[in-house]
Amino acid sequence: AGTPGTRDDWHGLAVLVTAGGTREPIDPVRYLGNRSSGRQGVAVAVAAAERGARVRLLAANVEDAVLAEAGAHPTIRIERVGTAAELEAAASAAAAGVDVVVMAAAVADYRVDSVAEGKLRKEDTAGAPPVLRLVENPDILAGIVAARPAGQTLVGFAAETAESEEELLERGRRKRRRKGVDLLAVNAVGWAEGFETGRNTLHLIDAADELIATVGGSKREAAEGLLDAVLALRGRDET
Ligand code: CTP
Ligand code: CA
Repeated sequence: AGTPGTRDDWHGLAVLVTAGGTREPIDPVRYLGNRSSGRQGVAVAVAAAERGARVRLLAANVEDAVLAEAGAHPTIRIERVGTAAELEAAASAAAAGVDVVVMAAAVADYRVDSVAEGKLRKEDTAGAPPVLRLVENPDILAGIVAARPAGQTLVGFAAETAESEEELLERGRRKRRRKGVDLLAVNAVGWAEGFETGRNTLHLIDAADELIATVGGSKREAAEGLLDAVLALRGRDET
């Protein structure tokens, strides 16, 4: 890799990016999902590719229109996934061979314990609302952290609701420690914030719990700032 800020400073690096949000089926026609569009993860994939990296993008339920920019890029390989289990299988296989993992996907924490074979119908439940029993999904990032090869840089994302920036950063630091990643990108979300918009602010917390940068603007600008920080971390570890 070259000098931060130059257009090919990610040349020679292989990157795995996960984007979007997993969907956990309830029955053949319904699912539990989340509001992640995949825009921030796709922006990271495109920015890394344009800076020279080879990119594997695992897209969980990302709309075609959002994926299009990545699809047009010759050095981005896209694989679509649906559930957390599918994302886990694809991500843990792909992670082994890359220099950097950026886990931007919103992974459902729980899935429905037993998925109905046929559509759930009101006439079959005799007026009593069904109760969905949930079971916890595996922590994909934890598996990648446990299996990490030497020299691999791991980046997690955390979308948090918080009353203040102080609370946001405190939650971020706690999560960074719990996850054991080299960098955690924390952003604020809420009913009217963080989703369905082209803009984002990422607070980047490193392994020493330091807020090393706050990057943002368009999701592409946030992605570029994140990539600068990852290169800086990798340079620091080399010396
Ligand atoms: N993640 C993952 N597998 C999961 C859940 C989360 O790999 N089953 C990853 C996400 O992709 C993200 C990071 O872990 O990069 C943090 O996700 P988050 O949902 O904020 O963390 P959780 O440990 O699930 O904690 P919380 O209870 O706050 O949701
Ligand atoms: Ca979670």
